[in-house]
Amino acid sequence: MNLIEWNDSFSVNIVEIDNQHKNLINMINELYNAMSKGRSKEIMEEIISKMINYADYHFTTEEDLMLKYGYGEYISHKNEHNSFIEKVKKFNEDYKSGALFLSVEVLTFLSTWLKNHILGTDKKYSKFLNDKGVT
Ligand code: FEO
Repeated sequence: MNLIEWNDSFSVNIVEIDNQHKNLINMINELYNAMSKGRSKEIMEEIISKMINYADYHFTTEEDLMLKYGYGEYISHKNEHNSFIEKVKKFNEDYKSGALFLSVEVLTFLSTWLKNHILGTDKKYSKFLNDKGVT
């Protein structure tokens, strides 16, 4: 079972970005399924690290495009990215130290954040970048 499913409403009309969003969704689902099956802490940590690195890579892709084409909401968008990365890194540290039990609530936070960010913040650059020829 998956926590979050891709559907066309998530599309920002840019193939590379849509594919990256699909990969992020897959990673959240992978984490959720590993948790549901009671996988070892080692495996969970591996998936979380992979997800943080990929989110970082994805955010950089978007930020580079926004900077390159002079997108007006670059700063506020980047701030959202930074706070997400900080939050997930904190989850990861707390999880590793045993201060946090990885729960459905934590994973729901991740999936809800991603969903709201794509549908709200990311969608805003879609037309702007499309008009610059980025598709
Ligand atoms: Fe797709 Fe702004 O992250």
